[in-house]
Amino acid sequence: VSVDREPDPRERSGVRRSLRLRLVAGAGGAILAAVAVFAAASLLLVGHQLRSSLDSALRRRALSVAQLAVTAPGVLNAPGAFESTDSGRQVVVEVLDSRGRILGRSPTLGARLLPAQRLEQHAIGAGRAGFESTTLDGHPLRVFAAPIAQAGGPAAGGAVLVASDTSDIHHTLHHLIFVLALSGGAIALAAVLLAALLTRRELRPLARLVAAAGEIERTADVARRLPEPAAGDEIAQLTGVLNRMLASLERARDSERRFLADASHELRTPITTLRGNVEYAVRHGADPEVLQELARDAVRLSRLVDDLLVLEREGSVRELHPVALDRLVSEVVAAYGAPAGVPVEAGMLEPVTVEGDPEALRRALGNLIDNAIVHGPAGGRVVVDLTQDRSRARLSVADEGSGPDPARAERLFERFWRGPEAGERPGSGLGLAIVAAITERHHGTVTVDGSRFTIELPTG
Ligand SMILES: Nc1ncnc2c1ncn2[C@@H]1O[C@H](COP(=O)(O)OP(=O)(O)OP(=O)(O)O)[C@@H](O)[C@H]1O
Ligand SMILES: [Mg+2]
Repeated sequence: VSVDREPDPRERSGVRRSLRLRLVAGAGGAILAAVAVFAAASLLLVGHQLRSSLDSALRRRALSVAQLAVTAPGVLNAPGAFESTDSGRQVVVEVLDSRGRILGRSPTLGARLLPAQRLEQHAIGAGRAGFESTTLDGHPLRVFAAPIAQAGGPAAGGAVLVASDTSDIHHTLHHLIFVLALSGGAIALAAVLLAALLTRRELRPLARLVAAAGEIERTADVARRLPEPAAGDEIAQLTGVLNRMLASLERARDSERRFLADASHELRTPITTLRGNVEYAVRHGADPEVLQELARDAVRLSRLVDDLLVLEREGSVRELHPVALDRLVSEVVAAYGAPAGVPVEAGMLEPVTVEGDPEALRRALGNLIDNAIVHGPAGGRVVVDLTQDRSRARLSVADEGSGPDPARAERLFERFWRGPEAGERPGSGLGLAIVAAITERHHGTVTVDGSRFTIELPTG
C-alpha cells in the first residue's frame, strides 16, 4: 500500500536553514573570539607601554631632583624650581627632609599634599624607592618616591616625591576600547554576512538534491537519478553514493519483480495439472492411478513452494556458527544410500570446520547430490569429497556423466533455468539457484567442471 504523502516544505528547508545557521553562527563566533583576543592583547600592550613610559619619566625626574637637592640645595628654594613638564606631561614634585617636613614643592599642588605616606616612610626610613597608584581629588595619580643621599644639606636623608595625573592614559585606553569594539563588531558583522552569502551559494546544490530526492520519494520511482553537481565536492560524492544506492535498489526491485513473475509462472503449470487431475477424478471417479498422479502433483507443488521459501530466506542475513563439515557430509551421504540404483558415496573426507548454517549447507549438498542422481547417468556412482586447502574448504559432488553443457555454464545457476534435456525429469530449476544463494551467504563460491560441482567456503 503506498500512501501519497505531501512533502513538507518546512521540514526540508528547516534542515537546510539550521545547517546554514549553524555554519554562519560558527564563523561569526570564531571571528568574534579572534577579534576579542586581538583587542584584549592590544589593550594590554598599549596600557603597559604607556604606564612603563610614565614610570620611567617619573623615575628620571625624581632622581634628577634628588641629585640637585644634594649638589645645589639652594635651588630648592628658587621660585619656579619645580614647575616643570616632562615630555609634555605635568609632573608635580615634593621634597621632604629626613623628618618628613616639606622643603620645597610644585606650586601647582597648592594646599594639597601628595597622598603617599607609605612611600614616604619607605624612602626616608628604609632608603628604598618605589611606585604607587592612588588618587588625588578624584583623579588617578601615579607617584614615585626616591630617597635623598646622606650627603649634607637640609634635604640629606629625606625624600623626593614626584607624581603625575594619569587620566590621559585612562582616556587613551578608553578610546582604544571604543575603537577596537567598533571595528571588531564591524569585522564580525562583515564576516557573518560573507559567511551567510557563501553558505547560501555552497548549500544550493544540497537544496537541489533534497528537492530531487523528495521527488523520488513522492513518485517511488527508483529508476530516477539525482542530478550530479558539476563540482567534485562532498555534495557530488554524496550524490554519487545516493545514485549508486538507487541503482542497487532498482536492481533489487527488478529482480524481485522477475522472481515474482517467474514464481507465479512456474506455479501455474503444476496447479493446472493438479486442477485437471482433480476435475478428471470428479467426473470419472478416483481410480488408484489418478490418485497417484494427484499425490505426485501435490508433492511437486509443495517442493516448489518449499524451494521458493528457501530461496527467499537465503536473501536475508542470519548468524553463522562453527560447523563440522565432515560430520555433516557423512550424515547427508548416509541418508541417501543407493536410491534407484545410484549409490552415493563419500570419497576423501578431511576434518574441516567452517562458519555456517548447518541446515542450509545440508540443503546445498543435497541439491547437488539430487542433480547428480537425476541428471547423471543411470547406474553410475555419485562421489562426495571434502578437502581443505589453506583457508578454503572444498566440497565437491561428482557423477559419472559428462556434466552440463559448458556452453550454458553461466545460465546454470539462474532461477528456474533447466537444461533442454531435463524436460521430463522432475524438478523446477531452482536447485542450483539455491546452492548459489547459500554459498554466497557463506562468502563462498560454487563452480562446475565437467560433472563435478565444487563449493568452496572460507574456513577461518
Ligand atoms: N550433475 C549434473 N549433470 C548434468 N546436468 C546437470 C547436473 N546438475 C545440473 N544440471 C543441469 O542444470 C540444470 C539446472 O539444475 P537445477 O538443479 O537448478 O534444476 P533442476 O535439477 O532441473 O530442478 P530442481 O533442482 O529445481 O528440482 C538442470 O536442469 C540440468 O540441465
Ligand atoms: Mg536440481
